[in-house]
Amino acid sequence: VDLQALNTLGLPATAESLTRVASVDEARDALAWAEVRGCSLTVIGGGSNLVLQPWLPGLVVVPSGTDWHLEPLAGDDVRVQVAAGVNWHRLVVALAEQGLWGTENLALIPGLAGAAPIQNIGAYGVELAEVLEAVHLIERDTLEARVLTREECAFGYRDSVFKQALAGRVIITRLVLRVSRRPRPRLDYGDLAARVPASPSAADVVAAVSAVRREKLPDPAVLGNAGSFFTNPVIDVARAQRLLDEWPGMPHFPLADGRVKLAAGWLIDRSGLKGLRDGHVGVHDRQALVLVHHGGGSAAELLALAERVAAMVEARFGVRLTREPRVLGEAVPGKA
Ligand code: EPU
Repeated sequence: VDLQALNTLGLPATAESLTRVASVDEARDALAWAEVRGCSLTVIGGGSNLVLQPWLPGLVVVPSGTDWHLEPLAGDDVRVQVAAGVNWHRLVVALAEQGLWGTENLALIPGLAGAAPIQNIGAYGVELAEVLEAVHLIERDTLEARVLTREECAFGYRDSVFKQALAGRVIITRLVLRVSRRPRPRLDYGDLAARVPASPSAADVVAAVSAVRREKLPDPAVLGNAGSFFTNPVIDVARAQRLLDEWPGMPHFPLADGRVKLAAGWLIDRSGLKGLRDGHVGVHDRQALVLVHHGGGSAAELLALAERVAAMVEARFGVRLTREPRVLGEAVPGKA
């Protein structure tokens, strides 16, 4: 089964087999099918945070349930039940149009709702963790349905239990979000405040965030990419101070734990790599944190470029960048 249209980088890849699952029962059937055949199982949502190598052995599962509904709670809060296959941005737009606050800063993030908790999607000062109440999933080992609370998800910056202890071991079937009718605009990031009217609606914020993203981030339908290719590095304050002595203009964000987060895009940009083209792949010319696939390339080429970028940043700043998207599959059938 051809996976090129199922990953936003547009890398060529083939799956041994693929099935779409719209319900808990269908997800369980898929797991049982893989178990009986002793084959590996990979879940792919919108494919927007993946680097696919040419061959995916075993079964690829694509969540396709698209139901979602609201459950009003006491006061202003509203609970939202969201199937894993719901398109994230469409959900954000629909909630904002109904005057529900909480997800508007996460507009235009590509991919499906079910993938959102894995890397705890975040943008413009808001993370999914702030609006997520629970995650419904099925465990591969036991075929049991389980519900994880927000605390059990162990969310961090671009991190969760789904990237750690539960990596590859569950199928996420549903999210439970909590949003609010009470306006609570979060406009402190960048120039967001200047881009919305006074007393903005949630839909105004969605429009502003979408406009900022369109200015900086390539549309995967036009130019293959997986969003930020590296996480923003977090370093201790002493090292940050030494770097700031040398680079006074370096963007830096103090964290609650006393450490300092740097902007990987800035580090790559200042390494002279923005807009670099290397064969079929390159560094985006408007946001250096995004690697792009111009077509005709491969995962191997992209990963080689990523290594080159990381090595140059390390040589200049002494900071090691960590890859953000997950690498799935095998370079050659049968060889991991
Ligand atoms: N910068 C540069 N040159 C660049 C890119 C950035 O100098 O080429 C500077 C900017 O001027 C700014 C700073 O670096 O001072 C931060 O840039 P930006 O606000 O664009 O955000 P980011 O830290 O590069 C993160 C997320 C994005 C998210 C934005 C907005 C990560 C890994 N990335 O990027 O998430 O949209 O903040 O909140 O945390 C994604 O994960 O795929 C993604 C796009």
